[in-house]
Amino acid sequence: MYQEIDFDKIDLSQEPPIDEPSRQYFFMAQCREFIRSESARLGRVPTYSIQTFGCQMNAKDSEKLAGILQGIGYAAAKTEEADFVLYNTCTVRENANTRVYGRIGYLGRLKRTKNPDMKIALCGCMMQEEHVVAKIKKSYPFVDLIFGTHNIYKLAELLYRQIRARGMVVDIERESAKIVEELPSERKFDFKAGVNIMYGCNNFCSYCIVPYVRGRERSRRPEDIIREMQEMAENGVTEVMLLGQNVNSYGKTFNTPISFAKLLQMAEKVEGIKRIRFMTPHPKDLSDELIEVMAKSEKICRHVHLPVQSGSSRILKLMNRHYTKEDYLALVGRIRAAMPDVALTTDIIVGFPGETEEDFMQTMDLVERVRYQNAYTFLYSPRANTPAAAMENQVPQAVAKERYDRLIGRIRDISQEIAQQDAGKTMEVLVEEVNAQREGFMTGRLGNNLLVHFPAGEFFVENGQAWEKNLKDKKDLQHLLGKYIKVQLTECMGFYYIGVPVNEP
Ligand code: SAH
Ligand code: SF4
Ligand code: F3S
Repeated sequence: MYQEIDFDKIDLSQEPPIDEPSRQYFFMAQCREFIRSESARLGRVPTYSIQTFGCQMNAKDSEKLAGILQGIGYAAAKTEEADFVLYNTCTVRENANTRVYGRIGYLGRLKRTKNPDMKIALCGCMMQEEHVVAKIKKSYPFVDLIFGTHNIYKLAELLYRQIRARGMVVDIERESAKIVEELPSERKFDFKAGVNIMYGCNNFCSYCIVPYVRGRERSRRPEDIIREMQEMAENGVTEVMLLGQNVNSYGKTFNTPISFAKLLQMAEKVEGIKRIRFMTPHPKDLSDELIEVMAKSEKICRHVHLPVQSGSSRILKLMNRHYTKEDYLALVGRIRAAMPDVALTTDIIVGFPGETEEDFMQTMDLVERVRYQNAYTFLYSPRANTPAAAMENQVPQAVAKERYDRLIGRIRDISQEIAQQDAGKTMEVLVEEVNAQREGFMTGRLGNNLLVHFPAGEFFVENGQAWEKNLKDKKDLQHLLGKYIKVQLTECMGFYYIGVPVNEP
């Protein structure tokens, strides 16, 4: 874990150290010199902005990148018009890439017209693809720095190299040699945080590019994970999300293997942590041990995101998912038997190569049987060099789109019916945000992951009616952030609730 470093004490006349993280501290100190001279030249502190395009893992990487930039001396900008702009990209589907290209064009215009000294940097999954880097070199020559997913810890070193070189610096590693940890991190929330438990993926689902851009599976040592959680808890974090592409294969490669369920049991013991979530378990190896640990736990949230991808066993085989529709339904049965109140969510791909109407009807049937609290649906997107992209019988867009619309309609209806079941109940939320849409309202999250918007101030409920006792200054809502409070879910709005805080009797 990172301990505060006094960068001014680092001797910059020496050669950079070879070992990590000392090497990065050295380059952070070098970059601080640059920021000092820039501050003097501009008459203000240079600013940075990071945009995250991908999943929770990318978001976590962005926090680490922000930590390095703040350590160097950059100040966070409110908008994208910053002196250092970094896009942390995603390439899981083509539309993620299209968005990035559009935005780089916009950044180029900003740089040309408003701030010629602006530094534009791109990193993340998309940059691990050779054709992407080739395209950027050719069509977006104003980009200053490109790096990938395996070397984010090297940001200061790369920035220093770029400052010296002045031209575009490209540094992509094909495989991760090491996990460098003791670097600063700048968390988005004070009270909740993601914790990497493993990196990479070995599953090679036939449609998926993640194993190619994130490399082979590597688990972090349990003691490092627990220590990070303890330090987070000491700093006010009460909710953690354990992150990995397939958390169920956590710890399997250690000399003395340890299961994910065991890791969860260790995590539960961390004092100060009230809620534990995890993302993502693969259905093929979600163990009974895990179900048992969850069912007994006071801290592990009653929510399982269990990506099914398709309801057709034939398609699941082509997807290389290693389970059938029946296996999946049996698993859902076991989870629900142990935790009747569990919320299940999923990911579904529509229009995988060779998907027939009959296959699709199997997916509709599965959705009907499982009754998800929510399902994230995606149109199949061919990814370079994945087996599925080379399969015959690619489904025409129009056919896939029509199926997609049918599916989301049904999912939405079921979600609403499910949310309705809890209407009227009183449940605990973690208050996460001041509601941007409704003045005087806050937004909290239930253990089952649904959001509740509620008015702040002092309220009580009598005969199902909410009364406002004494609404304090509406602007002074910040003090509620990070608190756990009980709210009555007065109205179900489909995917979220309106509630009122309840004074405990
Ligand atoms: N590791 C996680 C998911 C990572 S990607 C898991 O195994 O479930 C998140 C989701 O993106 C996947 O669950 C899948 O539904 C979707 N996805 C991945 N590749 C895709 C592709 N080529 N086209 C469309 N959706 C895709
Ligand atoms: Fe992709 Fe499959 Fe790995 Fe998830 S488990 S990241 S879908 S290859
Ligand atoms: Fe995207 Fe990379 Fe995550 S491809 S979904 S950001 S692992």
